[in-house]
Amino acid sequence: MPQMTRAAGVMVADSQVMSLLAADVPELDLAGHSFVVRGPSPLEGAVEVSGAKNSVLKLMAATLLAEGAYRIANVPRITDVGLMAELLRAIGCKVTLPSRSVGGSLIVEVPAEIEPVAPSGIVDQFRASIEVLGPMLARCGEAVVALPGGDDFGPRPIDMHLQGLAKLGVEAETVDGYVHARVQELTGGTIRLDFPSVGATENLLMAAVRARGTTVIDNAAREPEVADLCEFLNKMGAQISGSGSGTLTINGVDHAEALQPVDHSVVGDRIVAATYLAAVGIATGEIVVTGVDRDHMAVLCGKLGDMGMEISADGDSIRACVSGRLSSAKFSTLPYPGVATDLKPLLVALLATADGVGSVTENLFAERFRYVDDLRLMGADIRIDSHHVVIEGKERLSAAKVKAPDIRAGAALVIAGLGAEGETVVSDAHHIARGYDDLAAKLNSLGADVSRS
Ligand code: UD1
Repeated sequence: MPQMTRAAGVMVADSQVMSLLAADVPELDLAGHSFVVRGPSPLEGAVEVSGAKNSVLKLMAATLLAEGAYRIANVPRITDVGLMAELLRAIGCKVTLPSRSVGGSLIVEVPAEIEPVAPSGIVDQFRASIEVLGPMLARCGEAVVALPGGDDFGPRPIDMHLQGLAKLGVEAETVDGYVHARVQELTGGTIRLDFPSVGATENLLMAAVRARGTTVIDNAAREPEVADLCEFLNKMGAQISGSGSGTLTINGVDHAEALQPVDHSVVGDRIVAATYLAAVGIATGEIVVTGVDRDHMAVLCGKLGDMGMEISADGDSIRACVSGRLSSAKFSTLPYPGVATDLKPLLVALLATADGVGSVTENLFAERFRYVDDLRLMGADIRIDSHHVVIEGKERLSAAKVKAPDIRAGAALVIAGLGAEGETVVSDAHHIARGYDDLAAKLNSLGADVSRS
């Protein structure tokens, strides 16, 4: 078992991470910054979304499975990508981040030997960091990974990750905030997840591709980002079938050379695309959102259509037209293909200006309510009843000084500001930069008035 001191020896301070990141991507260093939104202003024009945060971070982790140079295209310029780059560098890789905002590529060069230690200081800043556990075990037979951080919306355990890995022969213990895991030889097995966890499915997939024999993951997550990872791994030489379904079957490849580095373009970000649709729902106007697969947005678009948004899709673009106040609706967050939990704050902001009483029922994360008080400051009429949020829409919100508590809630406050009278200031903009590239510039290209201070 690797020793704790080994991990402690590579601990990295938060400030060090931020300065490394700022050196790579200067405009992303938004600590202490705010978004200033002057509303109300209708939106008009086209906006392109980049690749999905929740895919690219896992693809970056998957590169650890095989030595060589990978090119990942359509990468969003967001701080979580910078953090994952720092994590891969700590493990021994060379990472070059993209320089353009849309469609840029990042290069990961993975050496013959990696250091299977994911240090605190980087790992505890974002949830996807736990995804290096599976590939490090597959590559090295051992891993020491600090417990992950990320958005704070209640407990986010990793028990399903560890129970699934145990079925593949992995022994793991958690000591002083680090998971220490090792395995003599990964061996295929049948894993039935209690819940279709995105992260657990992905970690198990990345371990199972190098296991001896066949692994079946039952009740697997079906999110498009999981399917993107399956595609990436299969291009590398893995043998995964059932991608996009609730049962994944993985025939392990038993020697390292069977996996090779690849080029891949990240699937479009359906959550960011939904953010722009919610924005036009609040601000009114007509926009075209490009760069996203309309099938990944089907349930949401159906609901928005029911609310009165004129919505049509063509290829990888979605046109949305809103000429007046939308009608309220009831939403329920569910694993894919249901309405994603990440959309909850955006939908609450949308319903805050819709006509009538609407609700959003949260079925995944117990405490995803931290933006409600800020929306109330803007005049929204919101009641929390257990895991339901009930919203009585107002004709117009009013500007206020509010604080972004996490990525999507921060974006929700920004788009609420588009429909509010006056100047809304959303502080703690660094949360938003974790998941949105150029949100202010992109909204401005649609005619909004958003600046950073
Ligand atoms: C990912 C996304 C996140 C999204 C979520 C659900 C990334 C980086 N993040 O998070 O944006 O909101 O999927 O679509 O991709 N659970 C356990 N034990 C576990 C794992 C999960 O109890 O071992 C529970 C969680 O607490 C939660 C539910 O399962 O209630 C779903 O979590 P999961 O799908 O694993 O979310 P993440 O992968 O963390």
